[in-house]
Amino acid sequence: MKQIYENYTAEDQNVWKILFDRQFPNLPEAATGEFMTGLKKVNFTAEKIPNFEETNEILRGLTGWEIYAVPGIVEDDLFFDLMANKKFPATTWVRKMSQLDYLEEPDMFHDVFAHIPLLANQAFVDFLQAISKFGQEWIEDPWAIHLLSRIYWFTIEFGLIRENGELKIYGAGVLSSSGETKYSLGNEPEHHEYDVDHILDTTYRKDKMQDRYFIIDSYEQLYNSIPEIKEKIELRLKEKAAAVN
Ligand SMILES: [Fe+2]
Repeated sequence: MKQIYENYTAEDQNVWKILFDRQFPNLPEAATGEFMTGLKKVNFTAEKIPNFEETNEILRGLTGWEIYAVPGIVEDDLFFDLMANKKFPATTWVRKMSQLDYLEEPDMFHDVFAHIPLLANQAFVDFLQAISKFGQEWIEDPWAIHLLSRIYWFTIEFGLIRENGELKIYGAGVLSSSGETKYSLGNEPEHHEYDVDHILDTTYRKDKMQDRYFIIDSYEQLYNSIPEIKEKIELRLKEKAAAVN
């Protein structure tokens, strides 16, 4: 499908502006520097809903990635196939004014505002592409996909990073929520160092804010953990197979 830009209404543009203006002031303090840099590079502003064609021209020049318009949440196989080919699936719809704070399914403010700026960072997209290739490889095994989704969840969606001794956010699930932005960096939730085994053993919840977050030291650390992710998931699959037999 395609983003049909003319279809956005004045309310859509206004909702985008409200969400952008509400979250933007929190970002210098809370978001990873790479998100701020990326936001500038892809040219997102409060004044207009991003036009995918324009954004893609910029992204292709930076990391070779692009936004790929989808109607909503896509099946795992398509999700991984797209990202293994440097295409990030994103919806084209914007929530209604009545849904500013609660959504059952991610809209563009999540998929685009929160996810796309980091696609300008090479180590980050290399990590995303590598775990997507694992997803393709393991697509027939629901347990493998579930374990992989824990990695995705606690990094791409809810990851924190330490920058110059300070905690910052890079996970899009946090960056698209002004409430969770403040909460995630505070004293209430647990903060753990990035640890593949620990994440693989951690269940997550989709219906409320996270009770724990994992902290990386750099995007290279994420990328360099790729062999370990593969090894640790394969080990768990073997153990499970052995327990069944
Ligand atoms: Fe997301």
